Amino acid sequence: MDADCAQFRLSLNGTAVRIHGLPPQTTLLDFVRSQGLTGAKEGCAEGECGACAVLLISQSPGENRAVCRAVNSCLVPLPAVAGREVFTVEGLSENGTLAEVQNAMAAAGGSQCGYCTPGFVVSMFAEQHRCDPDHRDLHALGGNLCRCTGYRPIRDAFLSLGHTPEGRIQQRLLEPASPPQRLRYRANNAGFSTPLSLDEALRLAAETPDSRFVAGNTDLGVVTNLRDTRFPDLISLQAVPELKHFTETPDAVEIGAALTLTEIGERWQTAPPVFREWLPLFASLLIRNSATLGGNLATASPIGDSAPLLLALDAAVRIASLQGDRLIPLTEFFCGYRKTALNPGEILSSVRIPKPFPHTARFFKVAKRSLDDISTVAVCIAISGRGARIALGGVAATPLRVLEAEDFLSNGDIEGAQQALEHTLHPLSDHRGSAAYRLAMAKSLLAKFRAEHEGQI
Ligand SMILES: Cc1cc2nc3c(=O)[nH]c(=O)nc-3n(C[C@H](O)[C@H](O)[C@H](O)COP(=O)(O)OP(=O)(O)OC[C@H]3O[C@@H](n4cnc5c(N)ncnc54)[C@H](O)[C@@H]3O)c2cc1C
Ligand code: FES
Ligand code: FES
Repeated sequence: MDADCAQFRLSLNGTAVRIHGLPPQTTLLDFVRSQGLTGAKEGCAEGECGACAVLLISQSPGENRAVCRAVNSCLVPLPAVAGREVFTVEGLSENGTLAEVQNAMAAAGGSQCGYCTPGFVVSMFAEQHRCDPDHRDLHALGGNLCRCTGYRPIRDAFLSLGHTPEGRIQQRLLEPASPPQRLRYRANNAGFSTPLSLDEALRLAAETPDSRFVAGNTDLGVVTNLRDTRFPDLISLQAVPELKHFTETPDAVEIGAALTLTEIGERWQTAPPVFREWLPLFASLLIRNSATLGGNLATASPIGDSAPLLLALDAAVRIASLQGDRLIPLTEFFCGYRKTALNPGEILSSVRIPKPFPHTARFFKVAKRSLDDISTVAVCIAISGRGARIALGGVAATPLRVLEAEDFLSNGDIEGAQQALEHTLHPLSDHRGSAAYRLAMAKSLLAKFRAEHEGQI
């Protein structure tokens, strides 16, 4: 293990920068702005607006190529990018010539006050470098909000973009990304470590009982930014290879807990259609580029979106500790409101989904906006040779399956299933929806499922 250090380096717009003495929970956004790179802005500090978007050069897991991903820099702790390459909007122009994306935004009138513009430009640039024009997805801009221009001119700029332009970032992507660096950074009485193996991560956690694991920081970062919470020691799981694996056998798929949702979407080519239905409904691409499946389950949020999907797919979770690992059904993982079966120092290492996948499955998310929003109620219903599964979020202290309702559904009795929901669910009322509304939604989604699959159940 490297000795504690008070400095590290990163590459910013192609120039090496040394970081010295800054508190570990300094955000990447605050740092780039302190360097005079003020294109990235703070709009919300909680991952909602995309004004802070920057590009990270990352390795595509399982492939020997680099990719550039747009992320919300307000949710990136600065030491999380130690040794990595970051590009801000200022780094997209070359030799005084604007990037095609920047010209396109100007030509289409895609900017008025300009607050959101650098973020949109960064998201568009990443999408232009991801694929050819025929495969681009306008939803790549789903995490960028504009309050004054209106989206049509921004959309026009996006749709006008040609093939990936030649330039230094396109050239850079031809080479692998910089390998992860081990880090034990300390400053201002706080620490941030990046271990390079599972064993190292577990040992670090055992040595520092006050420590907290962090993966994509899309949950923890909101707590840090908005509640001013400071964690004395963070242990990053981003560079632990055992948590980034993806394996598929005839019996199951096993997904490393520290894979981001974007990476899972790229790796899981045989995913059942319900996964493809679910993925774009989870936050925005900017968030999915950082957020992990492990982080989502470990928060045990009753409105987390992965739990209903994975419960309906009969998933199990693998938990690693210094004593070895154990595999438990996901139904046993959630023990109470925001409580899991993880003991202190344990790491959720992977999620195992058995095969065959259900022949019929649907994921319904009820939220105030269809994209980039948190669920009020989420329901996943699946029918397979193992029977019916009904898994819900937002209707109790934990995500849950309703076994009694499943029995009714297996017999095609939707009314019976709805009654079972009525006496099993105990939704809360909050600003997203009343208890009565949540219950009514859960019941009506069962009816919707039946209407869509008439004759199949
Ligand atoms: C704007 C915005 C939109 C969002 N939209 C959605 C949404 O639509 N649906 C949804 O479900 N969530 C949403 N979220 C919440 C969040 O993005 C997810 O919960 C995400 O999956 C968390 O993953 P992470 O890697 O960022 O976790 P982190 O923030 O890094 O960690 C979260 C918690 O999990 C622990 N942890 C992380 N990984 C592990 C592990 N492998 N083992 C043990 N403990 C671990 C950490 O210690 C921490 O307590 C949203 C968040 C934001 C900011
Ligand atoms: S400041 Fe709004 S997403 Fe970062
Ligand atoms: S141009 Fe003003 S917020 Fe988008």
